[in-house]
Amino acid sequence: MNNPDAGGGFSLRITGTTLELQVHAMDLGKFKQYLAYQSTAIGRSSFIHADAFQNLIGQIENIRSYGIRGGKRIYYGYNAERKVKNRKNAVATRTTGFYASGNTFSREIHELPAEFENTVICGDSSDILKTIPSGCIDLVVTSPPYNFGLEYDASSDGILWELYFSRLFGIFDECIRVLKYGGRILVNVQPLFSDYIPSHHIISSYFMQKKMLWKGEILWEKNNYNCKYTAWGSWKSPSNPYLKYTWEFIEIFSKGELTKRGNPANIDITADEFKKWVNAKWAIAPARDMKKYDHPAMFPEELVERMLKLFSYQNDIVLDPFNGVGTTTVTAKKLNRRYLGIDISEEYCRRARQRLQDIPDTEETGI
Ligand SMILES: C[S@@+](CC[C@H](N)C(=O)[O-])C[C@H]1O[C@@H](n2cnc3c(N)ncnc32)[C@H](O)[C@@H]1O
Repeated sequence: MNNPDAGGGFSLRITGTTLELQVHAMDLGKFKQYLAYQSTAIGRSSFIHADAFQNLIGQIENIRSYGIRGGKRIYYGYNAERKVKNRKNAVATRTTGFYASGNTFSREIHELPAEFENTVICGDSSDILKTIPSGCIDLVVTSPPYNFGLEYDASSDGILWELYFSRLFGIFDECIRVLKYGGRILVNVQPLFSDYIPSHHIISSYFMQKKMLWKGEILWEKNNYNCKYTAWGSWKSPSNPYLKYTWEFIEIFSKGELTKRGNPANIDITADEFKKWVNAKWAIAPARDMKKYDHPAMFPEELVERMLKLFSYQNDIVLDPFNGVGTTTVTAKKLNRRYLGIDISEEYCRRARQRLQDIPDTEETGI
């Protein structure tokens, strides 16, 4: 039974003598009110005893974390707000995004030429992007090849790292140029741990060197604990253990400023989605339709949906320079964003166009 009275986010089930409580996210204050209400249910049939939860509530209320008071570190209760005195002054003293100061980004906005709007183009992004004007894209959402040795249709995915990064950065330079002032770029990347190449750090350092503002990082938790490799490094010895990861990274950068202005009528994220998604660890299963589209490394649509709703407005222009079989463009179309997808494989572009055709046009935007 789900209890909206208590703010939702939990369910109670009684099976025989067992009471099972499943909690996703819950307002503890409301839950306590709900228990109090149940325990005073005179003449009403109450199926739970509030006392049964006292131990659990006690444990939650005992959760403490560090806060700062009077310049000293102290422990705070789980629900006490941690306050830093004169936070604004402290931020001003430290300065925000010092590495991005002195950027020369233009605030001028240009129209994306009509022939690029809502299209999928086949070609090398380092060439195609050069034909697009500066300052015309609101959001770049992309996942470049990781150089893991995957079998893509028309590109090699196992080249010398120096060459890999110099090609990738050539394309990122163009992405930065075509972004509007205040536009964002979200790059999904997985380091190659076996080569000890921290791609997410190398890419982030590059963006910072280009004076982009680091807006944050999302951990995409794929929960793939049964990943195929069983390498332990030095088994049962500290000499050289091998760390395993069940997640990927999404690095987020802003051009010029962290705020992206837009028409409030074009916001489509709900309060619930916002509350959940600003917690930057997203548990989303990997795409299940890779066989169907015959592509080895697709985005799951839910991942793109979150990126688009949290970082862009409806009608914004979304670019994916490594569009694959088009998950970014497909999700953009479904969510009333305009889009441009580029991929080097004609076959992947054909599949992306087919997927787009299968989505009915919306009346509002005609996208
Ligand atoms: C990780 S996949 C992206 C998959 C995509 N997110 C999806 O959901 O289908 C990377 C893609 O980059 C493409 N690619 C590689 N080099 C490219 C280049 N220079 N220009 C454009 N696309 C390129 C590959 O063909 C591949 O489809």
